[in-house]
Amino acid sequence: MIIAIDGPAASGKGTLGKRLAAHYHFRHLDTGLIYRAVAKAMLDAGADLADEARAAILAAELDPAAFGDPILKTQQVGEAASVVSAHHKVRAALLTFQRNFAAGPPGAVLDGRDIGTVICPDAQVKIFVVADPAVRAHRRTLEMRARGEQADEAVVLADILKRDERDRNRAAAPLKAAPDAYLLDNSQLDIESGVRAAIDIVEAVRAGRPRD
Ligand code: DC
Repeated sequence: MIIAIDGPAASGKGTLGKRLAAHYHFRHLDTGLIYRAVAKAMLDAGADLADEARAAILAAELDPAAFGDPILKTQQVGEAASVVSAHHKVRAALLTFQRNFAAGPPGAVLDGRDIGTVICPDAQVKIFVVADPAVRAHRRTLEMRARGEQADEAVVLADILKRDERDRNRAAAPLKAAPDAYLLDNSQLDIESGVRAAIDIVEAVRAGRPRD
């Protein structure tokens, strides 16, 4: 089984993906980390983020071992990832890796922006996670502070809104819900309730129950 989770920045999809994978003993891929790794490679190389050809070469050379680097989680790398991920050639270079990951046994959970629409359009379960921008900014600010980073909530909110705008309006695989995705509004849910709601969706699909 493939579970596709998409949603905007800081919507909680990463945590849900990790928890669902643990629950079902599936493998988990946070696809945002891949774009973040390309962005970091571009920053390290001093390259212009608008240089699509260069970004595509670095994307093709990525070593998945680098996806665990904590620096990938920083705001600066996230912002750069939103820019490089808009390049068609970068997305094309990363497609096969993601599809191969999804296809392997015993099952996989992938989270990102285009999993249900482009990477795994045939995923058995698709969840589109949404949450109020202010709630997302608050949660992201707390996460950053917990990692020891400086975070001003108003700046974090502005960054989230800017990234939403760019991720939704780009030509290449924009952020949008697949027509057959279940919508999960995470604004008022704590982590446990969100995980419960996601498991309920998976179980409803497995049982062949019609969607609400
Ligand atoms: O989910 P995240 O914040 O780690 O993602 C960082 C950026 O990467 C995001 O702004 C857009 C891009 N991204 C993407 O275009 N497609 C994905 N499947 C995942 C992330």
